[in-house]
Amino acid sequence: MMQVFSTITALQTTLDDWQDKGNKIAFVPTMGGLHAGHLALVELAKQKADKVVVSVFVNPTQFGENEDFDQYPNTLEKDTTLLEQHQVDGLFTPSVEQIYPQGLDSDIKVAELGDILCGDSRPGHFDGVVQVVHRLFDIVEPDVAIFGQKDYQQLLIVTQMTRQYFPAIKVLSQATVREKDGLAMSTRNQYLSTSERKVAPNLYKNLLDIKEKIQEKQEIDAIIKTVKKQIQQDFKVDYLEALDANTLKQITDNTSKIAILCAVFLGSTRLIDNIIFNKG
Ligand code: PAJ
Repeated sequence: MMQVFSTITALQTTLDDWQDKGNKIAFVPTMGGLHAGHLALVELAKQKADKVVVSVFVNPTQFGENEDFDQYPNTLEKDTTLLEQHQVDGLFTPSVEQIYPQGLDSDIKVAELGDILCGDSRPGHFDGVVQVVHRLFDIVEPDVAIFGQKDYQQLLIVTQMTRQYFPAIKVLSQATVREKDGLAMSTRNQYLSTSERKVAPNLYKNLLDIKEKIQEKQEIDAIIKTVKKQIQQDFKVDYLEALDANTLKQITDNTSKIAILCAVFLGSTRLIDNIIFNKG
């Protein structure tokens, strides 16, 4: 049976008990609105530890003023059923007051990786992400934590933060889970109208197109320019870049893995996606 904890004390009492019995703990932080992408993280967590804890917390500090914090899907009942079906051991559903009590010093700054791409378009976003993940790690103290490649920049930033502040926690990543037509699963896909939903998979098709052209050794800047025009037929492009996947800096002769990363608007919905592949 899955246990549901709404307070830190209740969670920690059970975590202590599990740890005393020698169990390894895997942790999957989420903001709810769960879909098959989140559940793939849960399945990976189950393979890597004895007990799996999932958090559902819509973190106010990672949303900008004009963003969708107030609209963000809350499907806690459905999420609870899904997590139970996937044999999760503990669900943590803290309140904002539990995560950010008055007087808590939780001002963790993100290094330079936080200023580019999504960090450039959403100022303060990654400060909020790192703040909440740091706080959740402090509370849960897991052995392993799982994040999705769908949010590739977030994955790198969290990995860096973990190395610095929680060297005992191992961060693992799960490949992006997609709909049959290629659209990366996202809680925000619920915002799309029927006609927008039909167009949305073109984003991934264009990323695959870029990958193919890079593998044919065409010149990267020229490819990006051409495909950007193509993408602009369907979306308003926030960014589209080909970077070194390890550093998110310019591709050089030393680059071993390439990341094509993009963010676009479809109507008022912001979609992000990426593909990562060996330079070859
Ligand atoms: P959320 O968007 O709910 O995502 C929770 C985790 O699921 C993240 O690690 C994300 O990368 C992963 N995920 C989402 N869609 C995915 C997909 N299609 N395939 C694979 N993994 C996917 O990301 C957040 O919440 C928050 O920023 C959080 C880390 C919880 C901090 O508040």
